[in-house]
Amino acid sequence: MAVKKQTKKVLATKPTGKLGILTPGMGAVATTFIAGVMAVNKGLSNPVGSLTQMGRMRIGKRTKKNNQPMISDVVPLQDLKKVVFGGWDIFNDNMYEAAVHADVLDINLLKKLKAPLSKIKPMKAVFDKNYVKKLNGTHVKKAKTKMDLAKELMKDIKKFKKDNKCDRLVMVWCGSTEIYIEESAVHKTIESFEKGLKANSKLIAPSMIYAYAAIKMGIPFANGAPNLSCDIPALIELSKQTQTPIAGKDFKTGQTLMKTILAPGFKARALGISGWFSTNILGNRDGEVLDDPDNFKTKEVSKLGVLEEILEPELYPELYKDFYHKVRINYYPPRGDNKEGWDNIDIKGWLDYPMQIKVDFLCRDSILAAPIVLDLAIFLDLAKRSGMSGIQEWLSFYLKSPQAPKGVKPIHDIFKQLHKLENTLRYVAGEDLINLLGQDYE
Ligand SMILES: NC(=O)c1ccc[n+]([C@@H]2O[C@H](COP(=O)([O-])OP(=O)(O)OC[C@H]3O[C@@H](n4cnc5c(N)ncnc54)[C@H](O)[C@@H]3O)[C@@H](O)[C@H]2O)c1
Repeated sequence: MAVKKQTKKVLATKPTGKLGILTPGMGAVATTFIAGVMAVNKGLSNPVGSLTQMGRMRIGKRTKKNNQPMISDVVPLQDLKKVVFGGWDIFNDNMYEAAVHADVLDINLLKKLKAPLSKIKPMKAVFDKNYVKKLNGTHVKKAKTKMDLAKELMKDIKKFKKDNKCDRLVMVWCGSTEIYIEESAVHKTIESFEKGLKANSKLIAPSMIYAYAAIKMGIPFANGAPNLSCDIPALIELSKQTQTPIAGKDFKTGQTLMKTILAPGFKARALGISGWFSTNILGNRDGEVLDDPDNFKTKEVSKLGVLEEILEPELYPELYKDFYHKVRINYYPPRGDNKEGWDNIDIKGWLDYPMQIKVDFLCRDSILAAPIVLDLAIFLDLAKRSGMSGIQEWLSFYLKSPQAPKGVKPIHDIFKQLHKLENTLRYVAGEDLINLLGQDYE
């Protein structure tokens, strides 16, 4: 039998030098991420939850030996030891103080990392209380227009890159959830957006100003919160123009992670659902911000879309029509970052007989979010080195409310998302895509 010669075309260039990861917002998630990477680099702990550091994937036929290499051996990823961190916050606590305040990681671990963490000090933020009503910022930039603020951010970025001798940068929004804003005329084109920046449009939130600064400079940008940020036509267009990969919105952690694992399973077995009630108690600063109805609305919209897309009630009316879906987040200070998420799921079986499932997830919010920040940063950098730009749908895997190209619905099912992520990595590595047809094991 003639052997087909494979001409591998690897899209990604090799990473050289240092990668700078910038986070607007240096609170619980960002400090847990930064301290975590430092702990891993010192050999104190493992990067659990991170595919870029611990994941494997299949390459080649099932009959091939050793066909599950580490993802980091399939595609050229940035070495974690050559990553540096920076960012902005409205409080000027250094990263050690902020991590102690966040109270996520054990103080004994933090003490071992005190010297490098203390060296990282947030730059002055672009902040406006009208978008996050529960916070009062003191460490904040002042300028006449929002365009001037964007230019200030660009100056910060250039200085950071030079001071830290970085080869490349990525930015991941880890700031608070802003109030709910709907897409409107000012967000439509690059021109209308830039005009809005100069005219201080109320519809341009601080997170959009950071996104604009990064994308304008060709720096990959991911949005970990549910606010629009880069999910507007103007910034999507700009990202294509400047060849910048972008991804958003909202890190997929606790309850929504469970939903996108469980719901595809029920759907796959044609089990009906009549109701899904989700409630949470949470006591960190994120919980406090979300206690305001305008900020909660942004989160609620992000969380509610998930089931609708997975279950497709319009195609399966007997199983899912009018299913009741409710999501609540209650601020409860004693719990701190250790959230508890309850789900009551009313399902239907054979002949519509009802059953119930209860899930009680005692999770740790920032522990679940930190590896997502890392993977988004490392994969966005890979995307940039592979010449990819615009929305990176293959990173939906990490996001609660994934951005999708115009005219198509986002994919929420975590298994479909993983398949897309892995096939994208195979494509970048010049390997055969896996379509799970018979010839896979030939
Ligand atoms: N599991 C999770 O933790 C999780 C999951 C999904 C999304 N998120 C989102 O990630 C974000 C961060 O969560 P967190 O728990 O670290 O919250 P946090 O309150 O501990 O940290 C957010 C930080 O952002 C700062 N900030 C607010 N506006 C800013 C601005 N304009 N510029 C710079 N800094 C600003 C705040 O001062 C604060 O220090 C939130 O939006 C949250 O909704 C978190």
